[in-house]
Amino acid sequence: MSRALIPGSFDPITLGHLDIIKRASMLFDEVIVLAAINPNKNYMLCTNSRVSLIQDAIKGIKNVSVDSFDGLLVTYMNTHSIDVIVKGLRNFTDYAYENDMALTNIRLGSKMYGMNAETLYMPCKPEFFDTSSSLVRLMLSQGADVSQLVPNNKLLLSFLQN
Ligand code: PNS
Repeated sequence: MSRALIPGSFDPITLGHLDIIKRASMLFDEVIVLAAINPNKNYMLCTNSRVSLIQDAIKGIKNVSVDSFDGLLVTYMNTHSIDVIVKGLRNFTDYAYENDMALTNIRLGSKMYGMNAETLYMPCKPEFFDTSSSLVRLMLSQGADVSQLVPNNKLLLSFLQN
């Protein structure tokens, strides 16, 4: 069974993320969307809210599930028998960042677990080139409408009000 991991902050999940998740779900038997917990990072949304928004966005896609994790991706991959990380790329800036991560994961996976922690890149569709969680957060901070960038605007707003 082929298992892919789509890790990220998902603070919050965007329509660009969801497109990558849907496309990956057609290529692998199982896809796990992993909301990272980094204690040193200041998220706009708590872990439960980030996970709930992902859960809501993926409902109806049978082979996709969501989880959260505080630790190294290679440790999660080793524990859950995951073959590959999938990441969407919008531009060269994404590539530079993701490639450093991909090479680090190869190095760590091999050293810690003797595994091949490979990363596959998926090109982002042009309609999502300018969609990012950071843009959503910026727009929200200015009271702008983000309903065209996220899959579940109402739910997102309800989490921000609490
Ligand atoms: O959506 P983001 O913020 O770009 O996601 C970054 C994420 C969560 C994929 C990255 O920070 C990550 O891989 N975190 C887990 C810790 C880890 O394994 N880091 C890689 C080598 S130190």
